[in-house]
Amino acid sequence: MKMRARTILITGGSSGIGLELAGQLIAGGNTVLITGRSEHALQSAKRRFPELHLFQSDVSKAEDIRSLYEQIAAHYPKLDTLVNNAGVMKIVPLQEARPLETLTQEVDINLVGPMRMVQQFLPLLKAQPDALIINVSSGLAFVPFAVSPVYSAAKAGMHAYTRCLRAQLQGTKISVVELAPPLTETPLFSAEFKGKMKGEKGMPVDVLIRKALVAIEAGKREICPGQSNILRVASRLAPGFIFRQLSKVV
Ligand SMILES: NC(=O)c1ccc[n+]([C@@H]2O[C@H](COP(=O)([O-])OP(=O)(O)OC[C@H]3O[C@@H](n4cnc5c(N)ncnc54)[C@H](OP(=O)(O)O)[C@@H]3O)[C@@H](O)[C@H]2O)c1
Repeated sequence: MKMRARTILITGGSSGIGLELAGQLIAGGNTVLITGRSEHALQSAKRRFPELHLFQSDVSKAEDIRSLYEQIAAHYPKLDTLVNNAGVMKIVPLQEARPLETLTQEVDINLVGPMRMVQQFLPLLKAQPDALIINVSSGLAFVPFAVSPVYSAAKAGMHAYTRCLRAQLQGTKISVVELAPPLTETPLFSAEFKGKMKGEKGMPVDVLIRKALVAIEAGKREICPGQSNILRVASRLAPGFIFRQLSKVV
């Protein structure tokens, strides 16, 4: 599948993996639309890549998704690629009291959001001769990370959902790809986790995206670069061992 001359919507395209993907796709001759909550972050992305088309939209809000769809269907009817990338990751000590209202925010953004985006955008994608959905999960979809229990649950759910979606869309013109990044050098990683990882470095984000695009063009459907593949394989060969190793991070 060629990643050229496509019209691509990336949720959470104002930072990190989404922004780098947007930049490399623009360089490859694609039309790229991005979403995010912060107008400031969106504008700063546009200063870096003036060709970007911006949509302020919160993927955890159903009404934002409906209105995003209306705008895009009206102005970009050739949209043929949806990248469900927006995500947040928190350290959640479960023994501490916390408000029930915000407890599941990571599920709302990382899992419910992509499910709603797929549901809402399917009619538009179905109308294209060759469409693509890319769901960004994580190496932690295969082995949970005890300090981030809600995130781990959401990403395992994303993996399961993506497999089901691919099976249901088999034989249609829509391909479904899962990109499971390893630790990657982005603001998400630096914000809370870098300090905990005892000097461990993430994959440079430009390297991750180059690998991902090569794999997509080669027709791969589950893309697990670097340590993600180690987690995937270890989750089958030695699931208890690898979970205990990750659980040493506190
Ligand atoms: N970095 C890693 O080590 C790593 C590893 C595995 C998987 N991933 C996954 O890769 C994806 C991107 O992560 P990243 O590292 O690039 O993070 P990042 O640099 O923090 O970027 C996250 C992006 O998502 C947007 N976003 C967050 N909540 C949103 C919401 N409710 N609605 C719309 N947009 C929202 C952010 O913009 P606003 O805050 O302005 O909305 C931002 O543009 C995530 O799904 C993450 O789980 C990352």
